[in-house]
Amino acid sequence: MMPCEQCLLYACKCRSNEGINSVSNPPTSDAIELRLTPTQKERYGRQTGLSLPSSLSLPLAQLKRLSGVAAKAGSESLPVSRSAVRQLLEPEPSGERGGGPFVVEVALTPRQKEQIERATGHCFASLRIVPDDVTVTYHETWDDATPLRVGRAIVIKPAGEPHEASAADLVVELPAGDGSGRGVFGTGRHPATQLSLVLLEEHVRPGDRVLDLGTGSGILAVAAARLGAGEVLALDIEAAAVDFAQETVSLNGLAGAVEVVRGGIGSAVAPYDVVAANIFPNVLAELAPSLAATVRHGGVLVTSGSVAARAEEVIGAVCAAGLGLEERRSQDGWVGMVFKKP
Ligand SMILES: C[S@@+](CC[C@H](N)C(=O)[O-])C[C@H]1O[C@@H](n2cnc3c(N)ncnc32)[C@H](O)[C@@H]1O
Repeated sequence: MMPCEQCLLYACKCRSNEGINSVSNPPTSDAIELRLTPTQKERYGRQTGLSLPSSLSLPLAQLKRLSGVAAKAGSESLPVSRSAVRQLLEPEPSGERGGGPFVVEVALTPRQKEQIERATGHCFASLRIVPDDVTVTYHETWDDATPLRVGRAIVIKPAGEPHEASAADLVVELPAGDGSGRGVFGTGRHPATQLSLVLLEEHVRPGDRVLDLGTGSGILAVAAARLGAGEVLALDIEAAAVDFAQETVSLNGLAGAVEVVRGGIGSAVAPYDVVAANIFPNVLAELAPSLAATVRHGGVLVTSGSVAARAEEVIGAVCAAGLGLEERRSQDGWVGMVFKKP
C-alpha cells in the first residue's frame, strides 16, 4: 500500500487535488477561511511577484492531515500543499540551479494562529506555500492611459491618447477599452514587460523572424515589428489574449507582419532569430528544451517574468537546454535575461 501523495498518510481520506489550488473556491463548512492582511499579501508579492487572494480557504480534512505531518516533523510552519509538505520532509536547496520547489513562508497573525490551532490542535507560526501550487492568473489593471516611453525609442500609447511622436519614435498603440483590459496582461507598465521591450530593442534586427510566446496584449509582438522584424508570430494559450492581441495588431496596421495564433510553443515553426517569453519561471523552466529548439544557432531567447529569487531556476533550465546566458538585467526586483544559442 502506498501513502497518499497529497497528505503522505496511509490512512488517507482526503481527495487529491484539493489544497491551496482551491483557494478560489467558495469556502464551505469543511474548510477554514484565513483572511489575509495587506502586509502578508505585500510580503508574498515582493518575494514571488504574484498576488495572493484576500483569503485562503483551506479544506479542513486536509489541513488536519498536513498539520499532523508537520507537527510530527517538529515544524513551526504549516505546509499547505502536497509539494510544500514534501519539501518540508525532504528539503532540497531552493532557488539554486536544479534545486527543489521555491517555497515562501508567510507569518501568521495571532488570530490566524488561533484559528488553525482550534481546527487542528497544533500551533504554527507560519504557512509554507509553494507559489507554483497556487492557481495564478496573468492580470494587469488598465487604469493608466498616458503614453509611456520605454527604452530608447519605444512609446506605448493607448489608442486615442494624444502623443507628438518624433521621427525616431516607434509607437505601439494599445486598444482603449473600458479600463479592464478584459483581463489581459501587457499594458507596458509592468517591469517584466519593460525589461522585455528594452532587451528586444537591443536584439531585434531588420528582417528577423521573431516569436513572442505568451503575447498577452500583443505589446512585444508589435514592438518587434516596429523594430524591423520581418515576420512575427504571437502565441498565447488564452482566448481573451489572442482576441486582444489581434486587435492590437490591426490597430497598428501590422496584420501583414504579425500573425496571432492561439496555442503554445508547439505552434511555432523553428527557427527564429529572436524568441521572447515573458512568462512565470516555472513555465519557462518546463518549456526550456522547446524554447531552445525554436531559436536558430546564433539567435537569442529573451526571458522575463521572474523575480530575482527565481531567476536561477530559469537560468539552470535554459542553460541545461544548451543556451548560454549573455545578459541579465533587473528592474524593481524583476529580472530580464538574454540567452544565446551557440
Ligand atoms: C506575463 S503575460 C505577458 C504578456 C506580454 N507578452 C507582456 O510582456 O506584457 C504572460 C502571458 O503568457 C500566456 N501564457 C502562459 N503560459 C503560456 C504557454 N505555455 N504558452 C503560451 N502562452 C502562455 C498567458 O496567457 C499570458 O497572456
